[in-house]
Amino acid sequence: MIRFDVHRLDEVGSTNDEAKRMAHEGAPEGTVVVAARQTAGRGRRGRAWVSAEGNLFLSVILRPRIAPADAPPLAPAMGLAVALAIEEVAPLSAELKWPNDVKVGGRKVAGVLSESLVSAGALSAVIVGIGLNVGAELPPELAEIATTLSREAVRNVRKGEIEEALLKSIADVYARFLDGGFAAVHDEWQARDALLGTEVRIDTGTRVVTGTARGITAAGALRVESAATLTEITTGEIL
Ligand code: BTN
Repeated sequence: MIRFDVHRLDEVGSTNDEAKRMAHEGAPEGTVVVAARQTAGRGRRGRAWVSAEGNLFLSVILRPRIAPADAPPLAPAMGLAVALAIEEVAPLSAELKWPNDVKVGGRKVAGVLSESLVSAGALSAVIVGIGLNVGAELPPELAEIATTLSREAVRNVRKGEIEEALLKSIADVYARFLDGGFAAVHDEWQARDALLGTEVRIDTGTRVVTGTARGITAAGALRVESAATLTEITTGEIL
């Protein structure tokens, strides 16, 4: 089982950038960077991640011995780890929006930014960054699409409590992923699929696919049906 070595910072630009810097310097698997605030928090697709004090911002260095092409499903697996931690601690039921958003009550409560470090064609590390809205007030422009644990949870969830549950959950899901790949967590992911049966538009980076979401495969790809044809999308973003 992975063991964590947690580095705590009051403020940093981005915990992912700090973890990446440490990984380049040889920091081992299980190194975790947690910051109380981020001044340049990053989301996927180059978006900013609003990072006010009161929420959880952490990045974990993983060094799985897998090919770079096998790394993408780690991100949805880590989304599941977040959902399981919320379900245990809050306790609330959480949903997953492929590839790796976590939702509660139909609104986004957490996001995962997974970045691979590749050297000479081999995967040297994966930085898994997680932003989880715990108690900070949401900016008004996000109020409709995002939420926080303090808004949703039936009890007062302390940040330290959810952080501890999250690290345990990451260790558990990662161990299962290393043993059996995404297939080992597929059923649990599928049971929380927020997109199942909905109409989606996905930017794969090379094209835009439109159709009905038909769940995810045992390899973590999104299945989309259009004109009676099923397409499997390995990496992409819902538009
Ligand atoms: C997304 O949904 O777009 C992913 C958001 C990921 C945000 C986290 S906060 C901790 C880590 N550091 C960053 O700069 N980003 C991730």
